[in-house]
Amino acid sequence: YRSQGQPRDNSMGINLANDNALRDLAAAMNTAGIGQWTAAPLVPGAQPAGEAIAVTNPADRREVVGHWQAADATTVERALANAVAAHAGWDATPAGARAALLEHAADLLEARMPQFMAMCVKEAGKTLADGVAEVREAVDFLRYYALQAREHFAPITLPGPTGESNQLQLAGRGVFACISPWNFPLAIFLGQIAAALAAGNTVIAKPAEQTNLIGFAAVQLLHEAGIPQDVLQFVPGDGATVGAALTRDARVAGVCFTGSTETARLINRALASREAGPIATLIAETGGQNAMIADSSSLPEQVVKDAMGSAFTSAGQRCSAARILLVQDDIADKVITMLAGAMAELKVGDPALLSTDVGPVIDADACQVLTAHAQRMDGEARLIARTPLPPETEHGTFFPPTAWELPSIDLLREEKFGPALHVVRWKADELDAVVDAINATGYGLTLGIHSRIDATIDRIVARAKVGNIYVNRNQIGAVVGVQPFGGQGLSGTGPKAGGPHYLPRFATEKTVTINT
Ligand code: NAD
Ligand code: ALA
Repeated sequence: YRSQGQPRDNSMGINLANDNALRDLAAAMNTAGIGQWTAAPLVPGAQPAGEAIAVTNPADRREVVGHWQAADATTVERALANAVAAHAGWDATPAGARAALLEHAADLLEARMPQFMAMCVKEAGKTLADGVAEVREAVDFLRYYALQAREHFAPITLPGPTGESNQLQLAGRGVFACISPWNFPLAIFLGQIAAALAAGNTVIAKPAEQTNLIGFAAVQLLHEAGIPQDVLQFVPGDGATVGAALTRDARVAGVCFTGSTETARLINRALASREAGPIATLIAETGGQNAMIADSSSLPEQVVKDAMGSAFTSAGQRCSAARILLVQDDIADKVITMLAGAMAELKVGDPALLSTDVGPVIDADACQVLTAHAQRMDGEARLIARTPLPPETEHGTFFPPTAWELPSIDLLREEKFGPALHVVRWKADELDAVVDAINATGYGLTLGIHSRIDATIDRIVARAKVGNIYVNRNQIGAVVGVQPFGGQGLSGTGPKAGGPHYLPRFATEKTVTINT
């Protein structure tokens, strides 16, 4: 991406192909304090919270990795009062000074990549490669929104008639509630916070229930970087209690939410039913039912590689993941045979091992939802492949990567969040109907296209109602400042995270006209 007009590199992360880097990583992970991690509300003036709840490793539920304590109603109330009181001072802090603190946090985080990777592996079940990507993306968000703050928050002088000066100024909206999911417990969690802070808001951050330890460590790091404790507060707890208490409170000027479409609707309703306070801003990034279209000109080997990468990386627990592979019938048999062969080679297991391709899913509830879906698919669709689970996964929450062939996309209306891929064939004269069927799901997040015919690619791009389109490659892993990320329809409100229009949504605009 660019900084002050100059190209700036995204974070490089750790090279997992380098033996020295791997040795350092292993040493750092061994000293990361696994088992001793804690999380509790970070709210100045609040009393210690309730009972300590154990957090276990998704790959082996017998391993306790830490403990967390939820915020109670009094703590949430205190956090809201603190955030309101701190807003004027933070908003008056020059945008450049706010940005400098976020950049300092990015440097600290980059230097502590192994420790945060260890948390991503042990609390969220991420593979090492996903752990590197997670920390890199978090670092990028911190730096990118710092840059955006410098660019957007300088007053803009506008042309006007002689004898008049006109200026546009941006300022923070007030208190932002940042509510995040477990599948990007560091990158999305910090991305939301960084944007809201950069724009001059005070922030109350609520992590997902499954990943409080990572959220706590991340907020502590921002405090260490110099973000004041009352400007950024941490309130772990259930969505239905702590999350709902924040969204119904009239002191909250905006909510930045990433999670399921269903929860976004609940939050939207809560904000709309408030009878006092500002009309709150809601930035919601939600689910997807993402497809990859491959026509008969595409290379089957490439289609299979990219479909597998898009469907099974992160155990399919990415909103961007491919769920439906739509293959033109001429090449479908070949693609399906190769897919089955490649799935037999997938390594499911401990995400801390470099050889593992697919780690666990986040919890037993996720396993249950996926198992119910698999039972339905086994009845209605043809099984292509199911990668067996090795014995060492028995104490974790694992779901076997599975692919089925279905007669129609119409059987796939809901997002299923895990390593499940569905293949549907189409005929040469059905291209527009295929895109219409994808649009008809109502989701609009990512779309993959495999074709060597420019006219076909252009036709699909023009017709598809989705936020991110990837051609002849995989469809996951959007890079901050390079591939701004976010969907439309049931997939979210926009603006795109990691893109040039994101930060202004966190701000109010003031036009000052002076008769000179
Ligand atoms: P979720 O909706 O269950 O939870 C997300 C957050 O909302 C959690 O912090 C939860 O505690 C909170 N929450 C739940 N109920 C609430 C309520 N009534 N009021 C306020 N907050 C509440 O989602 P999840 O299971 O954590 O994450 C997976 C989902 O996130 C998937 O649907 C995935 O597609 C989506 N996602 C989208 C993007 C994107 O950028 N579009 C990125 C990552 C994940
Ligand atoms: N931004 C994440 C991706 O692109 C969700 O995979």
